[in-house]
Amino acid sequence: MEKGKLYERIIEQLKDLFQKSDDPVARMATVSALLYHKIDYYFWCGFYLLKDDELIVGPYQGPLACLQLAHNRGVCWAGVREKKPIIVPDVHQFPDHIACDERSQSEIVVPVFTPEGEIYGVMDVDSDKLASFDETDARYLQEIARMIFMKS
Ligand code: SME
Repeated sequence: MEKGKLYERIIEQLKDLFQKSDDPVARMATVSALLYHKIDYYFWCGFYLLKDDELIVGPYQGPLACLQLAHNRGVCWAGVREKKPIIVPDVHQFPDHIACDERSQSEIVVPVFTPEGEIYGVMDVDSDKLASFDETDARYLQEIARMIFMKS
């Protein structure tokens, strides 16, 4: 299936599921599980959350990940600093990329904001293939990130 259609189906399913709870952790866990199991090029999918100016792992699916990311390095911190999606076609070409799992080859990070517009953390997806992510992924992942705090 074309990836845009797949994301649209997943978003419809998430809207339905999110009526059961406004809790952001429950929603992030649900997003991670659904995306990871429905999209075949996803190798790792989850959230890193800002706590006391550190990025700490949140709900995720996939191989074991770093619990905390070295301050101000790597793709997730770039997403926090720039407050926009970061698409990395080849992680080996990204200066100071943090490899939690050597098999990751490409990556996308999108910021997650609180209802007040503060940065809350990032959604991060890794693929074990090069150049898996494009503007379509960025667009739909941003829409999903906005749903974490949306009132149902
Ligand atoms: N590669 C990320 C770290 C998190 S893992 O991909 C799960 C980074 O450079 O920030």
